[in-house]
Amino acid sequence: MRQLSTIAGLRDFTRDAPRPLGLVPTMGALHAGHLALVAAARAECASVVATIFVNPTQFGPAEDLARYPRPLAEDLAALEAAGVAAAFVPSVEEMFPAGAATTIHMDGPALPLEGEARPGHFDGVATVVAKLLLEVGPDRAYFGQKDGQQLAVVRRLAADLDMPVTIVAVPTVREADGLAVSSRNAYLSAEQREAAPVLYRALAATRDRFRAGAQARAELEAGCRALLAQQPLFDAVDYVAAVDPDTMEPWAGAGPAMLAAAVRMGDVRLIDNVLME
Ligand code: PAJ
Repeated sequence: MRQLSTIAGLRDFTRDAPRPLGLVPTMGALHAGHLALVAAARAECASVVATIFVNPTQFGPAEDLARYPRPLAEDLAALEAAGVAAAFVPSVEEMFPAGAATTIHMDGPALPLEGEARPGHFDGVATVVAKLLLEVGPDRAYFGQKDGQQLAVVRRLAADLDMPVTIVAVPTVREADGLAVSSRNAYLSAEQREAAPVLYRALAATRDRFRAGAQARAELEAGCRALLAQQPLFDAVDYVAAVDPDTMEPWAGAGPAMLAAAVRMGDVRLIDNVLME
């Protein structure tokens, strides 16, 4: 596996890389969820580039940028073992040199839910993802359903900028008790960790009600909220929303829906979603 830190070196590599070329963008601290993206890319692509970049532009001022874990040696070993052809690990200066003045601003799917809770977050995501797509020039790029709104934002971005890339969604990888695998789970105390799967259980139970015929949006959302309210260690429920999986607008009652929720436990924020069709 090649380890690359400059955009020029990356371009040298991708020029001759066997195609189709797959891209797996990450912020590192790799876990089974990230590795499922790599496995999906490996299954469909002749070569895979993974990127590790803790993107400062997508963190709010009160967020966990400084304490975000950066276990680089382990991450590189995991990517190599997973069969990645090249790991691109740029510095902040390489990605955002002094004088950089361009930000991609997104409306539409970037506005509700996480967009409301984390102002500017998706502009930061869209800007860095656009740069990575332009730098790597992949045929396919892989994103997790775990961050379902991010997936919708990236699909919209690629379509709006006429990027010749297929965005591939990979199902959420979960722990045995249902909790979505996330690097932020490590911030939870033992007690909080034990309580956390209630998030997925509430979403899954609501999906079961949907499948059994309960299809009024307000009723589904209220039912899910009531289940979350039963967990006293959830300090706040930021949102529970059944939305159109592409536009993130309130689900109109026909076609597939994404039921998404965000809860806070102390200073840890957990997000999860399920698709209902
Ligand atoms: P990061 O949080 O490192 O996640 C990288 C990718 O892994 C994302 O596409 C995310 O949805 C996916 N992922 C995380 N946990 C997952 C799980 N349990 N199951 C399946 N996929 C999972 O998301 C980002 O980084 C950044 O915003 C990035 C896209 C790299 C831009 O900076």
